[in-house]
Amino acid sequence: MAKTVKVGVIGAGGISGMHLGGYQNSPNAKVVAICDIDLDRAEKRAKEFNVPHAFDSVTKLLKLSEIDAVSICTPNYDHKRSTLKALAAGKHVLCEKPMAMNAREGQQMVDAARKARKLLQIGLNNRFGPDVQFAKKIIDEGKIGKPYYARSLSIRRRGVPSWGVFGQKKLQGGGPLIDIGVHSIDFTWFLMGCPRPVAVCGMTYETIGNTPGHVGQFGPWDYKTYDVEDFAVAMVRFANGATMMVESAFCANLPEDTFGCHVVGDKGGVGTGPLNVQLEIGGHLTDCTPARLPRGVKTHHVAVAAFVDSVAKGKPSLIPASEVIWVQKIIDGIYASSKARKEVRIK
Ligand SMILES: NC(=O)c1ccc[n+]([C@@H]2O[C@H](COP(=O)([O-])OP(=O)(O)OC[C@H]3O[C@@H](n4cnc5c(N)ncnc54)[C@H](O)[C@@H]3O)[C@@H](O)[C@H]2O)c1
Repeated sequence: MAKTVKVGVIGAGGISGMHLGGYQNSPNAKVVAICDIDLDRAEKRAKEFNVPHAFDSVTKLLKLSEIDAVSICTPNYDHKRSTLKALAAGKHVLCEKPMAMNAREGQQMVDAARKARKLLQIGLNNRFGPDVQFAKKIIDEGKIGKPYYARSLSIRRRGVPSWGVFGQKKLQGGGPLIDIGVHSIDFTWFLMGCPRPVAVCGMTYETIGNTPGHVGQFGPWDYKTYDVEDFAVAMVRFANGATMMVESAFCANLPEDTFGCHVVGDKGGVGTGPLNVQLEIGGHLTDCTPARLPRGVKTHHVAVAAFVDSVAKGKPSLIPASEVIWVQKIIDGIYASSKARKEVRIK
């Protein structure tokens, strides 16, 4: 029987509920402590999920020697700091997305995990969505041929989060691109077979979020502290000749919200959000979308279960930071290209 993995959760805000629920559903895991700089919040979550210890600091949580692994659910500015502390204390880490504020920080995390010989998984849970999983299966079976082009779309027309620090560059590293674009770039790139990115040409725009009077899907946001982009667009080139178009927005005057991708191959195409499949049959380009997919899948819970399984059985992570660092490099490249007003290389 696999051993019980004892877990500490760092950060008790919105997303911690998904991690706590995921661990609660995993027969091989038990959350033994939670911490937040806001002790009230940590105590409330502890009560809600029956967690024995609540602390007001990461240092106090990491002193519990029984903890094998941690989930890091703090804002982006803290991901590197808490990850390095947890790895130094000998814990495996599941860190929320984006892995860090930038790829330089991400690389320090990857190096520290390698040195500590511990798992470092990143919370890119959308890879486990039934549409993405179906798309991956048919791409791996060769049904769409060789993917050569993709669109990665994460568009909220008026969707600035009204909680947390999502509009503040110094605490987040960026705007929609690093917050929701990280998911869509990741699952698109995953479906393309994780080709090596070599160059990016991108542009970001600040037009709406830092001005008053807009009605948002999450209620009013603090436009006075908002200093991230509203919209980012880019073309990414890969070493194998494939390309990916990226569009990501918290605010954009477009006709619909979109969260998904299209992957185009020489034999067919597949898209997610919602799933759509196009194959050529008898010379006709034909819509072949499955009638049904599993419903009600909680992708965070699947990601947590995969992490627990990797820790308990000593298996590699399904979403290792050493792979996902390329997604962070693409994002860094888009911001750098926009600033330089020219294509930049990705190394
Ligand atoms: N995978 C996903 O789909 C998904 C969805 C939402 C959020 N997230 C990620 O999760 C992270 C947190 O987002 P959220 O929506 O829960 O934000 P949140 O603001 O609701 O919660 C963050 C919590 O971290 C606490 N905190 C801040 N610094 C801390 C520190 N040094 N030590 C301990 N606690 C600290 C805050 O007090 C707050 O309670 C972000 O990085 C975000 O990108 C991922």
